[in-house]
Amino acid sequence: TFVVTENCIQCKHTDCVEVCPVDCFYEGPNFLVIDPDECIDCALCEPECPVDAIYSEDELPKGQEQFIEINADLAVEWPNITEKKDPLPDAEEWDGKSGKIDKLER
Ligand code: SF4
Ligand code: F3S
Repeated sequence: TFVVTENCIQCKHTDCVEVCPVDCFYEGPNFLVIDPDECIDCALCEPECPVDAIYSEDELPKGQEQFIEINADLAVEWPNITEKKDPLPDAEEWDGKSGKIDKLER
């Protein structure tokens, strides 16, 4: 499965949702997640993210492992999103910042 990781937080560009053939992205206030039970591992979303927040669970950068569980947990709580919308207003400012996990709104 593919996993949305920390750099999506406070950015939420949503380019990823437009390419997913099974519509398995779910939206929270400042982050998106992928439902691991629905993802078919097509890899189409990975290159679409302008801030490189999406990885295969087998290739997660060090320190991002906790996002496997975060995606699985929040995908069952949040609503589905299938159409691109504007990124969050301060997306550029937040790109690449560390410690964004503390900002994750559930
Ligand atoms: Fe959707 Fe494919 Fe990305 Fe999985 S890998 S979330 S199926 S676009
Ligand atoms: Fe997030 Fe990137 Fe999608 S910032 S919403 S994973 S395009």
